Amino acid sequence: MSWRDYSTAPPSGTVVCASNAVGTIRTIVIDSPRGRFPMIVVRTSSGIRAYVNACPHQYLPLDYRGDQVVSACGGKLLCTAHGASFDILSGSVLSGAECGLDPVPVVECDDEIRIGTEMPDRTEDER
Ligand code: FES
Repeated sequence: MSWRDYSTAPPSGTVVCASNAVGTIRTIVIDSPRGRFPMIVVRTSSGIRAYVNACPHQYLPLDYRGDQVVSACGGKLLCTAHGASFDILSGSVLSGAECGLDPVPVVECDDEIRIGTEMPDRTEDER
């Protein structure tokens, strides 16, 4: 599934939040004319990453049962509902789900994080 397949996916250019609102990680719901869109935004050593905050196991938000969604090593996103884990840099599934998180393209510019333009589809190996 692509983030664009969600009926509430916001248009490119929509402001997600101020840059300084994301320390390491932030869950946020974006309000746009299309509706409310749940996102998880992560600041990594390789830059900003964002995903739809919907675990593909049962489509609950990763922070459903708490806000500890980054592993102690910092390399994984963890679903608090049933423990699925995902690579923090790609969203690819590591355990507990059939597929990975849906990446959302974002850009950081002028102290804001915004929805970017389309990103290439992942290969089967990345899911
Ligand atoms: S909903 Fe995420 S592991 Fe079940």
